[in-house]
Amino acid sequence: MDVSDNALSHLDVGRGLPVVLLHAFPFNRSMWEPQVAALFGECRCIVPDLRGFGDSPRGGPYTMDRYADDVGALLDALQIEQAVVAGLSMGGYVALALWRRHRQRVRALVLSDTRASADTAEGARKRLDLIEVARAQGVDAVIALQLPGLIGKSTREKHPDLVEPIRSIMARSTVEGIVGGLEAMRTRPDSTPLLASIDVPTLVVVGDEDAITPVKDARVMHEAIRNSRLEVIPEAGHLSNLERPAAFNTALSDFVGSLLYN
Ligand code: MLT
Repeated sequence: MDVSDNALSHLDVGRGLPVVLLHAFPFNRSMWEPQVAALFGECRCIVPDLRGFGDSPRGGPYTMDRYADDVGALLDALQIEQAVVAGLSMGGYVALALWRRHRQRVRALVLSDTRASADTAEGARKRLDLIEVARAQGVDAVIALQLPGLIGKSTREKHPDLVEPIRSIMARSTVEGIVGGLEAMRTRPDSTPLLASIDVPTLVVVGDEDAITPVKDARVMHEAIRNSRLEVIPEAGHLSNLERPAAFNTALSDFVGSLLYN
């Protein structure tokens, strides 16, 4: 199917219930490859590059709402009325923005290694510091600062082979995409008050070694979202889908499977 020139670059594979997978910062759609491989036999996977990342159009202003509107426009272009929306980390912030702005499009939510709250004042200041690093020193300098915190201790010790593939996905980022993502995260609103309004099936996933959006943040969402499920993935850090793909895929497939029969 043709989609407009302005639409997000995306992968669209499989048939049936549409599932949109929204990537983390600073990544692109290829971080969802293990999940697409597991899911595309049972549902339709729509996997966009967010604005400024991968092959998607660039151009600000970059805000969480704009990322969400871009995803809404992609669903329009694909003539998809409703989809399961799954986001990891920054992708989770976008998923919550989609709920805020386009909730009629959301069939169910998966909020993985993410949080509902806005940046603290200190967190927002660190984003500005990282923007300076990106502008002055480039993408590799940002990766060098970000990567150690993204990956859990168990993965670093037991699966060091995973680090390089993760780095190489991040290395496809551009300074513009990175600066845009940091601006969007820095200025995102607090979505905590929104959680009580979520009345679609929701799965909250978190790696038990996630140092960026720890288990306590996942519990806040789980406790505030009625009838949500919480899945804590053992021996996984912030990138639980890449660090423990089998466990992550089981949780995701079970959840999506439960929607198919309801
Ligand atoms: C991400 O993984 O998307 C970011 O690290 C999230 C964040 O920095 O808040």
